[in-house]
This record gives sequence, structure tokens and C-alpha cells, in this order.
Amino acid sequence: MSIFKHHAKLETNVFLLAVGILLTVIVGGLVEIAPLFTIETTIEKVGGVRPYTPLELAGRNIYIREGCYLCHSQMVRPFKDEVERYGHYSLAAESKYDHPFQWGSKRTGPDLARVGNKYTNDWHVRHLINPRDVVPESVMPGYPHLARKLAFTDPDAHLRTLKVVGVPYSDDQISNAKADLAEQAKPDADANAALLARYPGARVGDFDGNPAQVSEMDAVVAYLQVLGTMVDFTAVDHTKIQR
Ligand code: HEC
Repeated sequence: MSIFKHHAKLETNVFLLAVGILLTVIVGGLVEIAPLFTIETTIEKVGGVRPYTPLELAGRNIYIREGCYLCHSQMVRPFKDEVERYGHYSLAAESKYDHPFQWGSKRTGPDLARVGNKYTNDWHVRHLINPRDVVPESVMPGYPHLARKLAFTDPDAHLRTLKVVGVPYSDDQISNAKADLAEQAKPDADANAALLARYPGARVGDFDGNPAQVSEMDAVVAYLQVLGTMVDFTAVDHTKIQR
């Protein structure tokens, strides 16, 4: 048949074959990926998800620097055992301001997507300094060096950069970034209405128990405490969420 004759030509000519493969991949890619940009449920609309505060962002950066993601995922899969253990399965909207996202696939330790509010700040501090102090059988390494002063001198630049890739930081949030960073870790930070107006529901206070300085520990604990707490799942309309 003539179609096989042409096929033989395609298979024996490297250039034609490369063009053929490229065309096939482009068509396949378009069919698979393009609809996602138009389907409304790709990123469900849920209330409560806000950009990270400068302190939480600093903590997130340390989480990545220390390689916490090598042992911890941040995505609760929509399976019964996962939901029973960790809580509501993760929604795409919950990580829409994460650049890059921390979904991960390696779980030497438990998933952390919903660890916020699960423990006290004090528990996290003790656990991060030496996990065996609170979980005797733990194989997680200690991170006692996080007690050092946080060197995050240009949070405004970080916010501005994230804005370039689509995180909706306002000019107000950017110009107050330095002040907000220091303020969130103060023992009486809940008195700061402007900070809480800029970041609704932000958890504030002296996270590491040392009011003398803002430490890396303050930042990491602030970050861990916000994970999974932004969406109020009692108010989520499940009929609008695709599994
Ligand atoms: C070598 C693997 C490993 C690394 C790296 C690691 N962890 Fe863990 N993590 C574990 C294991 C195992 C557990 C479970 C035992 C325990 O609670 O200590 C755990 C537990 C936790 C928990 C308690 C979770 C829960 O729901 O009980 C938190 C929070 C946590 N890790 C945070 C971190 C942070 C933050 C980092 C990075 C600074 C980190 N981990 C790095 C292995 C690791």
C-alpha cells in the first residue's frame, strides 16, 4: 500500500522523522494541556488563600534551603487513608502562590500540607532543635542552627519578584515588607491591626520564645503554622470541586 511506502521514507530520513515526531508531540501536548487553561475547575475558587507574609516567606525559603522537601511532601492525595490521616485533600488553589510548589513525592516523614495549628510553637521549636526530645523514635535530623538571627534583609525585593510571576502583592504589602517581617515575630504583634489587615488570619507572636531577635526558627515555625490553614473547608462548596 502506498501509505507504507511513504512511511518507509519517513523512517529512513532522520530530518523527516524529527519533524514528524515534533508535530505529533505538539498536537498531543495541545490536546492535553490547552483545555486546562479554559476549564474553570482547574484551579477551584476557594476563599481564604492569601500570599505569604514576609516572615512566612523567609521560613519557606529556609525550608527549601534545608531540604525539608527531601523527606516531606505537601500534598494530601484524594484517597480515604490520606484524608483520614491528614485532613481534607489538597486543592490546587492552596498552592497557587507557591513558586515553586512543594508538593513533593518523598515521604520519609509525614505530609506537612496541613500541619499548621496541629502543634504549639513550643513543640515545633523543641522538635526542630532535636526531634528525639518530643518523638523518641524519630529519624529526622536536628536543626539547632535555626536559632541564629534571620538574615532576610530584602523581603520587599522578594515580594516584588514574586509579583512578577503572578502573586498579587500590593504596593502597600511591598513597601511595608521589612516592618511586617519584624512585627509578626513580636510577642504583642496581635495589636498590629495594619499587619493583620494586609495578611488576614496571619498567626503572630514570638514563635521561638526569644524576643531578643527575629531568628530563622521564628520564620520556619511561622511558615509551618500557616500550612493548610488558609482555606475554611466548612465553607467550601464540594459540588464545584473536581476530584
Ligand atoms: C531525613 C528526613 C527528614 C528531613 C530532612 C526532615 N524531616 Fe521532618 N520528619 C521526618 C520524620 C521521619 C518525621 C516523623 C517523626 C517526627 O515527628 O520527628 C518528621 C516529622 C516532622 C514534623 C511533624 C509532622 C507531624 O505531623 O507530626 C514536622 C513539622 C517536620 N518534620 C518538619 C521538618 C522541617 C521543617 C524540616 C526541614 C528543616 C524537616 N522536617 C526535615 C523526617 C525528616
